[in-house]
Amino acid sequence: MLGLASMHIAYAEQLTRDNGSPVGDNENSQTAGAEGPVLLQDSQLVEKLQRFDRERIPERVVHARGTGAFGEFVPSADISDLSIAKVFQPGTKTPVFVRFSTVMGYRGSPEQARDPRGFAIKFYTTQGNWDMVGINKGVFFIRDAIKFPDFVHANKPSAVTGVQDANLAFDFFANTPESTNMLTHMYADEGMPDSYRHMDGFAVHAFKMINAKGEVHYVKFHWRSDQGLKNIRPNDIPASIGNDWNMMTNDLYGAIRKKDYPKWDLYIQVLNPSDLAKFDYDPLDDTKEWLGVPERKVGTMTLDRVPNNYFESTEESAFAPSRLVPGIEPSEDRMLQGRMFAYADTQMYRLGANFNSLPINRPLATVQNNNQDGKMNASGRTGEVNYEPSTIKELSQDGMYKYVQTPLSGTTQQQAIHKKQMFKQAGIFYRSLPEPGKADLVTALTGDLRHVTNDKNKYIMVSYFNKADSDLGTRLEKALGVDSSRVQQMSAKLSDD
Ligand code: HEM
Repeated sequence: MLGLASMHIAYAEQLTRDNGSPVGDNENSQTAGAEGPVLLQDSQLVEKLQRFDRERIPERVVHARGTGAFGEFVPSADISDLSIAKVFQPGTKTPVFVRFSTVMGYRGSPEQARDPRGFAIKFYTTQGNWDMVGINKGVFFIRDAIKFPDFVHANKPSAVTGVQDANLAFDFFANTPESTNMLTHMYADEGMPDSYRHMDGFAVHAFKMINAKGEVHYVKFHWRSDQGLKNIRPNDIPASIGNDWNMMTNDLYGAIRKKDYPKWDLYIQVLNPSDLAKFDYDPLDDTKEWLGVPERKVGTMTLDRVPNNYFESTEESAFAPSRLVPGIEPSEDRMLQGRMFAYADTQMYRLGANFNSLPINRPLATVQNNNQDGKMNASGRTGEVNYEPSTIKELSQDGMYKYVQTPLSGTTQQQAIHKKQMFKQAGIFYRSLPEPGKADLVTALTGDLRHVTNDKNKYIMVSYFNKADSDLGTRLEKALGVDSSRVQQMSAKLSDD
């Protein structure tokens, strides 16, 4: 069957139907005489309408608005002491596809919004595809996957009006104090990067790196933009965005087409398993950064090619934190654990069970297993031994690729993590901002908190920010005209353990 494809006869510039047969007239349907109805036997007309009727697939449930580009990752340091992953072996060059996105808007929504930006990379490594599915900030709003659908419902357009509503978003956040750190980052200037080229990327969660001796280190990944960071300040937003809803794609593709290829350096932070207990927060809580842990550069990614088919690249691409390669494994971070399931699951719905065979998702490494059939299967798998074990056809399994063993203790449970520390890092971040950055944060936060009509939620939010930093609290109180003593009382009752 695959052989037939190479035998195809090309009609130079000839318009054809899907079966390859030439079309005689693509502008006039076949009719019964000059006055009669259109004929059902005009199969070109019928096929054209049928194909058009089926052009849309479900958009991503989050991160629907995105833009993609191809490039290459080249390691710059030997980290074989940490990981056997071939992608980091000196001298290796790995092709990548990157998809940037906003989170909450629909597929055709404006590209500029106060929203995290998705920063997803598919590394087509010789040991299979590795997806790093991150964002442009080092932390996230929540720390347990069980809250993710609620977080998204509250922040997506309202189930009644179809319009995003700060009342609903802050109703959720007022009941989710662990979001204070991420909210402080999102309402700072870095929450409005002026282009995808001018922002950093983070995998956010810790992952495990495994070396040839089976030793484990916990690692966080950070992409640093070679173009530097540039943000849009709140008062400049209307002028900067103007009427261009597509400014992020236009900027990225414009730069690549001018051969001004954007680059990001990849840095890692590394902890020994025994270090995890030493912090006053839980290092496997994705609402926390590993502040003070040194970063080392391990490689550079360059984007140099604009895809020539939006749907077949950007729309059909499927990224998943569970798509890992030998030497990189998930940590016990509770959010990451939920993500290990959710992405491949949604992709089987959004694209179908065989989404991994689509050209954009297909590994360069040979796929050999007994997964088969299903809708639109075209894997090219051959042979009737579609089971294992077998003496007729052996598929080897090397013990060195077994998942690493992790010591455990205790019982099953449903408890929050011990070291919650909801506010401290938000305060550290606020105090690190220069004065104009502090003022911009207050302007941007006030812009949305002003729309919160539920007084209780508004006070709770201000008390959280006050707990993070009393100067931030005081400025918000003044800007929103709320009662300072009520905020102070509420804030004093909050624990930051
Ligand atoms: C348990 C928490 C989470 C769940 C259940 C979840 C679920 C999803 C789902 C279902 C998609 C759509 C995937 C697709 O249709 O192909 C998605 C996309 C995405 N998520 Fe998450 N997500 C979670 C947390 C996060 C976090 C913490 C980050 C950042 C570190 C993140 C970054 C992204 C990105 C960048 C995309 C877009 C990927 C692309 O460009 O196709 N998500 N997420």
